[in-house]
Amino acid sequence: MSKYAVLGNPVSHSKSPLIHSLFAEQTDQTMSYQAIPLEENEFEGFVRNFFAEGGGGLNVTVPFKGNAFALAASCSPRAQLAQAVNTLFLDRDGDICGDNTDGIGLVTDLKINNKVTISGQRVLILGAGGAVRGIMAALVYEQAAAITIVNRTVSKAELLVEEMQSIAPVQAMSYDMLQGAASKGQSYDLIINGTSSSLQGEMPNLDAKLMASGCCCYDLMYSASDTPFVQWAKKEGASLSIDGLGMLVEQAAEAFALWRGVRPNTVPVMEYLREHS
Ligand code: ATR
Repeated sequence: MSKYAVLGNPVSHSKSPLIHSLFAEQTDQTMSYQAIPLEENEFEGFVRNFFAEGGGGLNVTVPFKGNAFALAASCSPRAQLAQAVNTLFLDRDGDICGDNTDGIGLVTDLKINNKVTISGQRVLILGAGGAVRGIMAALVYEQAAAITIVNRTVSKAELLVEEMQSIAPVQAMSYDMLQGAASKGQSYDLIINGTSSSLQGEMPNLDAKLMASGCCCYDLMYSASDTPFVQWAKKEGASLSIDGLGMLVEQAAEAFALWRGVRPNTVPVMEYLREHS
């Protein structure tokens, strides 16, 4: 039986084993998928050994996406741009390859599942950490009209903008500058929360005027009850307030397709997770 796993720390809460077992059942694939917690110094040895012993593929989550990028012998352009890898597999020569399916997972959830247009829209992104790096390439390919990245530590947003500005209309801001822009009437069609503030039960302080008419608010995080950002978006009347469960399932479907050559139907899996969380 082909073996697959997700590596992270912590990882016991991960929904990936359930998602991949539902995909395998649906597409008649014989495979196992486990969540494996590792210490930082165990990561490289584990991955090399896993593939040497015939393992089929790995997902990688916090805090190892950068380690996986460094370890892979080659990476997809979208993983290069993110400098982070969430999916590992072997190529025909037996070399370890890295890809990043987070961004395409977000874009598929927005465009296909929620009928949200990205092309030509004004996009505001909160945060400039690993989660935001993972989605930037996919958003750039979608040709948003303008992408504004706001971060508490402005220098991190500025660094991301420096890397992207030759390929996309991006700009960096502080939260104070954003408030200033809101006061002058600036608004956005799509607001994406890529901060980890939900983990502290918080969200950045945002002026509701930042929502343009028809605005979609999307939180890369998800939880059984609404995240603070989704609560805010609903309260302030966003047209759509979406958490990251759909993105999680779609990024998993992309990884599954890379490994198994078949793309599962994600809709019943999302429904199952919503009902059972
Ligand atoms: P991840 O992989 O989840 O992106 P990360 O790389 O540690 O994790 O990045 C966390 C992001 O959330 C950062 O942009 C962080 O802002 P700083 O770079 O200024 O630290 C942001 N963040 C975390 N808690 C926040 C809060 N309470 N308010 C605003 N931004 C927050």
